[in-house]
Amino acid sequence: MGYIGKEQALPLLIEGLRRHSYRGYDSSGVAVFDGNQVSLVRATGKLEQLEQMLVRHPLPGSVGLGHTRWATHGGINETNAHPHADCKQNIFVIHNGIFENYQILKEKLQAQGHVFASETDTEVLSHLIEHFFKGNLENAVRQALVLMKGAYGVVVFAKQDPDKIIAARLSAPLVVCMSDAGGFVASDPAGILSHSNKMVFLDDGEVAVITKDSFTVTDLKNNPKEKTVTEIDWTLQEAQKGGYAHFMLKEIMEQPESLTNALRGRLMIGEGMAKLGGLEELKKQLKDVNRIQIIACGGASYAGKFGEYIIEELAGIPVHADIGSEFRYRNPVFDKHTLSIFISQSGETADTLAALHEAKERGGLTIGIVNVVGSTLAREVGFGVYNHSGPEVAVASTKAFTSQLAVLVLIGLFLGRQRQLSIASGQQIARELNAIPGLVKRILEKCSEIEILAKKYKDVNDFWCIGRKYNYPIAWEGALKLKEICYINANGIAAGELKHGPIALINEQFPTIAICPSDSVYDKMISNIAQIKARNGKVIAIATEGNEDIKRIADDVIYIPKTLEMLTPILSTVPLQLLAYYISVQRGHDVDKPRNLAKSVTVE
Ligand code: F6R
Repeated sequence: MGYIGKEQALPLLIEGLRRHSYRGYDSSGVAVFDGNQVSLVRATGKLEQLEQMLVRHPLPGSVGLGHTRWATHGGINETNAHPHADCKQNIFVIHNGIFENYQILKEKLQAQGHVFASETDTEVLSHLIEHFFKGNLENAVRQALVLMKGAYGVVVFAKQDPDKIIAARLSAPLVVCMSDAGGFVASDPAGILSHSNKMVFLDDGEVAVITKDSFTVTDLKNNPKEKTVTEIDWTLQEAQKGGYAHFMLKEIMEQPESLTNALRGRLMIGEGMAKLGGLEELKKQLKDVNRIQIIACGGASYAGKFGEYIIEELAGIPVHADIGSEFRYRNPVFDKHTLSIFISQSGETADTLAALHEAKERGGLTIGIVNVVGSTLAREVGFGVYNHSGPEVAVASTKAFTSQLAVLVLIGLFLGRQRQLSIASGQQIARELNAIPGLVKRILEKCSEIEILAKKYKDVNDFWCIGRKYNYPIAWEGALKLKEICYINANGIAAGELKHGPIALINEQFPTIAICPSDSVYDKMISNIAQIKARNGKVIAIATEGNEDIKRIADDVIYIPKTLEMLTPILSTVPLQLLAYYISVQRGHDVDKPRNLAKSVTVE
């Protein structure tokens, strides 16, 4: 976050950093210029630690940089925290991303006499700018950035050219806004939304020169760039906890609304069809698609796996779900009839973006399922469907995940009705999908039952989550939630795979969550549960309301309402989120900011 204007910079920077903090960080720092000198304060740990240090060292001045760091190069300590300065303490840099060629540049700079204070890749840029600096900061920044390889969102200030701050990006987000107070730049609109909702998103290779009254944008060769202003309609209120103990619980509870938003105006029940504005222009080309690949990371990739099942079922097109970090290191087979679907809540995930670049280079159609409007993926992919989930602040994804499932059903319905799916089947799916937000609400109303169950299982160290068919990816998602926020060794397993090895682990201390709604694979699931029970394993079943038989075999049962088999994953996900949430709270963990994790994974 950077600020230049008429007000005291420090409170604005701290407020902005706090609003960014959901992204995950392990240290933080600020640099403020008082018209004469730049003061730098950095701290490890939470922002509160930085604030405590600032009580002793208040920093007056109306220009400043603030940063929260998530360590990549160099350990977590004050020296490695940003901002980083050059040898003369003239130039100050904050950076998100990774400079891949920093080592070679560092050695060259050291050979020229530059002295480095930290182990970071970022500090190379401060010294490289120093090397080029002849009184004009933006020129020096441009010259330096031409030499840098990797990903960056950087903000730079120089004491010897103090009427501006410079921001530049390549593969790491940056957004600029102006208000009466001055000019702001941040990694995320949430950091500066309280000052203006009119944002300008920088694109790759762009440099912004921001003064207290205005800003200009150029490319790295100093050619001017025309920018459009995006109005962000998220209120600050929406980014607050809304009375819940944690953002994660708030976001779980928001799912009836977020699912309604994902479906709003998109279901044509009478025609048994989905209307997707962002795909309208592609309608003709989508008809000719004969192969689909779905690419995403982490939880979003599990939504992608669900997409594989649902689209093959509804549209009869071969689908392959992949993860972003593997996709571009394979040799994926493309032709002009291949559709690549990229799923990302943040729209900033480096591996997913890299996969998009690969797919675009090789040809074929690309579409996105993205939540954050104006994010890099949303802008680069060209076409797609927004989730409309609103801001997701907790690191563990919840409402964005269920809306990804809903959007994939919409896409399946759309492609299916272009092909083999009958109007009657389309109508039934549209009707049942329309009812899903209300069914999710019913599950949420019983959250206290899941809280009680969480007490019973809170001390368990290992968990399995098993499912079949549409609920197989949900077993992965349930296990991921337990890993992320409870630090439990949890694994998602296709129930049919148990007998091929994993069942060797089962004993009375090793519970299994079995997702077993009353569907076409129910009997198979019951056999798998029996195999676990025969080895003294405990079983928590997620079953369909009205199934009393399941109580005879499972130790505990969580009920979900009845719906179409292919829609059960949207429902079965919810108790898994709640179970992980309550276990995490009872174990005393930092639910919204679990250790070692970041909300936007902007590094490879
Ligand atoms: C899961 C989770 C992560 C993200 C993954 C992709 O709870 O939060 O696994 O799903 O990092 O992030 P996006 O969707 O922003 O690309």
